[in-house]
Amino acid sequence: MTINGKTRLTGLIGNPVEHTLSPVIHNGISDKMDIDCVYVPFKVETEGLDSAIKGAYELNVLGMNVTVPHKNDVIASLVGIDDCAKHIGAVNTLVRDEEKGGYVGYNTDMLGLRRQIHEDGINLNGRTVVILGAGGAAKAVVYMCLLDGADKVYLLNRTLDKAQKIADDMNKLAKDGAIAGANNCSAVIPCSIGDYADIRENNLIVFQATSIGLFPNVDSCVIEDDSFYDKVEIGVDLIYNPAETKFMQIVKAHGGKAYNALKMLLYQGVIAYELWHKVTVDNDILEDIYVELKRRVYPKDNIVLIGFMGSGKTTFGKAIAEKLSMKFFDTDEYIEQRENMTIKEIFATKGEEGFRQIETDVLRELANTLDGCVVSTGGGMPLRIENARLLKEIGKVIYLNVATQVIYERVKEDGKRPLLQVEDPYGRICEMMTERKPLYERACDVIFDANCNDPEVIWTSLKNDGII
Ligand code: ATR
Repeated sequence: MTINGKTRLTGLIGNPVEHTLSPVIHNGISDKMDIDCVYVPFKVETEGLDSAIKGAYELNVLGMNVTVPHKNDVIASLVGIDDCAKHIGAVNTLVRDEEKGGYVGYNTDMLGLRRQIHEDGINLNGRTVVILGAGGAAKAVVYMCLLDGADKVYLLNRTLDKAQKIADDMNKLAKDGAIAGANNCSAVIPCSIGDYADIRENNLIVFQATSIGLFPNVDSCVIEDDSFYDKVEIGVDLIYNPAETKFMQIVKAHGGKAYNALKMLLYQGVIAYELWHKVTVDNDILEDIYVELKRRVYPKDNIVLIGFMGSGKTTFGKAIAEKLSMKFFDTDEYIEQRENMTIKEIFATKGEEGFRQIETDVLRELANTLDGCVVSTGGGMPLRIENARLLKEIGKVIYLNVATQVIYERVKEDGKRPLLQVEDPYGRICEMMTERKPLYERACDVIFDANCNDPEVIWTSLKNDGII
């Protein structure tokens, strides 16, 4: 985007802020919705917090996110606060209020987690919940559980005092009728972490809200005892890096469902964005931004080649793999082995839709497993938007763009291409190219001219253009 006189500013206040992913979310949405706004991180020291907030208002900043260590202290500098944020005692989003002449605080962390679990079909109403940890994140989770009508909330922490304090605060709010869904004024039960064996209920929903298991300490988990996990039906880890924490692994090994909280990160940002810009961000955009987040948090070292049949995905792919000492991986070959049928046979028995579904299933699998490969893909693979997103999760996507005539020359003798078994293959190629070109362009990170037949020349231009 180009910055002009009307460009608005939003941003993040915290310390440190260097590793924040919020710009991916906010600038990504502005870009996709063509909204004239930029989002910038600001490192602010505790002593300067109040003047930073006042200064931001004077500078006409539209809205701010607030992160560690300012989520509590910022409240003193606001002109208003939403009830949820007030009850949780933490604010992560500031919304400009012209009438009041300052910012109003919200807690979209809690709202983001709530949106994530609702989307995953997790209903807390009447349930017994266990929360591991009693820090700032845990407090927001306790509040969410009461709001959604949980019957009982065991709050387990290494330091019992902290759990006790949160339980007292939240039970009092419930007693005062301050939380709409809360129907019991002693629902929150503080415990020491070692007391998990005293929990008698089964089918537990557990939120992991300690810092244990966070990258790089991926082999740690706050409770490892099997007897606890036998009672767990659903586990949600508030950590998203690694993608599957030790806690999640143990929950799954015991037959439970497990989720990380990358969607919570996305949704806390989206909800803030919607409050600032008074828009609704549609699902298609959310899916795209979610892929971008995954690419940043779980980077993969793959190169993915897409393009029409005969565009050189296999020939050039093999040459590139050799030059880079990477493995070569052909999705069509993999599908043939997996299904124990040729592509032609799959088309004949399952139809094109059946084949496309197999492609999607395979991509989902490869998004978790493939690393260090040059990947050659089936020509129709990126046609489904879902597949296009999965390809981006797998690696950097390069579209080998080749003229129709060149394609025709390369494939005319090849009887193995099921889509070309027609009377006028050249006409068919023209038709398909018109239909597919925009979809390849949508699916790729880079468009590369691959009309030349010499792999050595292709390799040199890919390198010279800084593509690989
Ligand atoms: P956040 O704001 O993300 O919740 P926090 O307030 O620092 O972060 O809370 C971290 C949580 O992880 C706390 O519940 C902490 O337990 P204590 O209150 O006893 O400190 C928990 N935690 C961190 N390291 C731990 C460890 N080694 N064993 C058990 N709990 C731990």
